[in-house]
Amino acid sequence: MDCLFVGQHIIELSSVDSTNNYLIDLSQSTSLVEGTIVIAKEQTAGRGQRNNIWSSESDKSLCISLLLKPKLDISQQFLFNKFIALSLCQALNKCSLTTKIKWPNDILVDRKKVAGILIENSIRASKIEKSVVGIGININNNISHISKATSIAEHVKTIPSIPQLLELICKNIEKNYFLLKQKPLKIDELYHLNFFQKGQVQKFSKNGEFFDGIINSVNDSGQLVVEVNGRFEFYNMGEIKFMI
Ligand code: BTN
Repeated sequence: MDCLFVGQHIIELSSVDSTNNYLIDLSQSTSLVEGTIVIAKEQTAGRGQRNNIWSSESDKSLCISLLLKPKLDISQQFLFNKFIALSLCQALNKCSLTTKIKWPNDILVDRKKVAGILIENSIRASKIEKSVVGIGININNNISHISKATSIAEHVKTIPSIPQLLELICKNIEKNYFLLKQKPLKIDELYHLNFFQKGQVQKFSKNGEFFDGIINSVNDSGQLVVEVNGRFEFYNMGEIKFMI
């Protein structure tokens, strides 16, 4: 693989509960190099954001976890999320997909989720010492029963292989990792260029009530900034739902 450190050490598993669990445990008991990746053909208890289950079919989805040691200040935690979402978006665009990032970091194609990200950080002395970045991508799994999900196979003629997809992800993460350290504002700018519904009127629900707002941005704390009746409002994760 044409990378300096991302994906230079790959641990391949045929079956595991969750690649994130595996990498978190292993990184606590062994010293692992930055860029180590765990990839599994099958996950028996894949985890998603907000304690959701992430289901995937054996060999038909990409399930990986990547170890990074960014040493960023915790105030940059959400910028780190933006960097990963952006990298995944760019990697998938290289497969002839047109992707958008939906707040906080879902990757959509045609308004449906094709990939998800679960980042689990360990903090020491106000720095992100270790980050386990879990990425799940629907490649050609049957997800027709999930109305808001899609797979790569539904959108392109030439479906990338798992190794091809992995290489694209590693290259884009590595490229943007340098940018994150040197030009963090650029990451923020590129994230917003690929942001779902930016500048558009979107319907939301909050505590069972509906409202419309214009999506403005995601701030440094990871809050969604929405313009409602001419005023900016700030929402935390889980506080509002997109009606799509
Ligand atoms: C989400 O959108 O809810 C996040 C999904 C993250 C799924 C990936 S698959 C590889 C890694 N291992 C896990 O248990 N979860 C992440």
